[in-house]
Amino acid sequence: MAAIQKIRGTNDFFFGEARKLRYIQSIFRHVSEFYGFEEIITPVFEYTELFSRGIGEGTDIVSKEMYSFEDRGGRSITLRPEGTASVVRAFLENSLYAQRKLNKLFYMGSMYRAERPQKGRYREFNQCGVEILGSARPEADAELISLNMLVLQTLELKDLKLYINSVGCPKCKPDYEAALKEHLSSSFDELCESCKTRYDKNVLRILDCKNPQCKELIKGAPAISATLCEECSEHYEGLKAGLSSLDIEYIENPMLVRGLDYYTKTAFEIQDESLGAQNAVCGGGRYDNLVAQFDEKRSTPAVGSAFGVERLMLSVSDESVDPAPETVFVAAFEQTRDKLLWAMEKVRGAGFAALCDYELPSMKSQFKYADKLGASYVLILGPDELQEGYVMLRDMKSGGEKKVALDDIERLAEL
Ligand code: HAM
Repeated sequence: MAAIQKIRGTNDFFFGEARKLRYIQSIFRHVSEFYGFEEIITPVFEYTELFSRGIGEGTDIVSKEMYSFEDRGGRSITLRPEGTASVVRAFLENSLYAQRKLNKLFYMGSMYRAERPQKGRYREFNQCGVEILGSARPEADAELISLNMLVLQTLELKDLKLYINSVGCPKCKPDYEAALKEHLSSSFDELCESCKTRYDKNVLRILDCKNPQCKELIKGAPAISATLCEECSEHYEGLKAGLSSLDIEYIENPMLVRGLDYYTKTAFEIQDESLGAQNAVCGGGRYDNLVAQFDEKRSTPAVGSAFGVERLMLSVSDESVDPAPETVFVAAFEQTRDKLLWAMEKVRGAGFAALCDYELPSMKSQFKYADKLGASYVLILGPDELQEGYVMLRDMKSGGEKKVALDDIERLAEL
């Protein structure tokens, strides 16, 4: 029988990689809390309608990337492809607007998209996201971006580029869509098949197409900045002023549109240039109309973003991950087995991780194993030494050994 393997586009993380993932999450949590964000945990699956209405029927995510299935009651359920729609649902369902004037929320969890897997692009991946619900001010956008930059700085990432744009609002976006259609109308037949559909359904997405021919066709397309309404351009200027006041460097990219329909005004992306094709480590923007889309009476302006944790993992160096606790390997003989668990307990009490080989093979094998596990010390429970009330401690780096009285094992860190 063929061995069962993991589903394509998913990952097993273990040892150092699992530590790295959790380390990234802990830095993200720490920085978010310093910016006054509180955690929200929502379900991994939701009714399909939440995403199809929230993210938009015309988007790639909804039209071809969702993992949807019928549950036993015949309802359509979807594994979340992103976190924002769920946060908005929870915000409304739990009346969070009544509890806080401003809801600053962060989340961490796995997302699911049926994309073509490649390096940095998976079908199950982790996001660390932040959302600010309750302010239309550009300062909120700028502060959210500064939070993201601080996370990346703390993770010691270099080669970062922040791209910003304004995608307008329902007042001015249609003018831009019309201008873009006009620009592309004469070359419609040269567009790729996907872009031909996008032309009618979601023309802005053509700006984001990776097809070289489409890229060529959008060269010289009008910039959205030319058609922004007064409110949107003022907001965009406010964002830039906010970023400058924080000394955050940015690059304006008038072609930046993101793959979700809910964005209004600000759209941004942080790229790590050292990564390959999938170099967007963080993406986000403002979504002033999403809450109202689910409940007209509760219209709430909002802005948010999310990191792709697996992409960060490709750039974060092993050295910058917090080390695991220092390990003491406890080696014993069959005659001293009765002291094994006791000694391990004392070692943990001293603030070290304690490991052993329960089988107690030869001393040589136990040392070899301790070395493989990267133990800093080996505590040897020798029968004669125990009789006399002490054990030997070997420093695995220097090879030096010293006597430790049984009562002193708990003070190992001070010795
Ligand atoms: P997004 O741009 O679709 O935005 O995803 C955010 C980040 O998740 C991307 O920049 C990327 O790092 C990572 N990501 C996306 N797809 C994959 C994948 N297949 N494999 C690995 N990593 C991936 C959102 O999801 C929005 N909810 C962000 C947001 C929050 N906007 C407002 N609030």
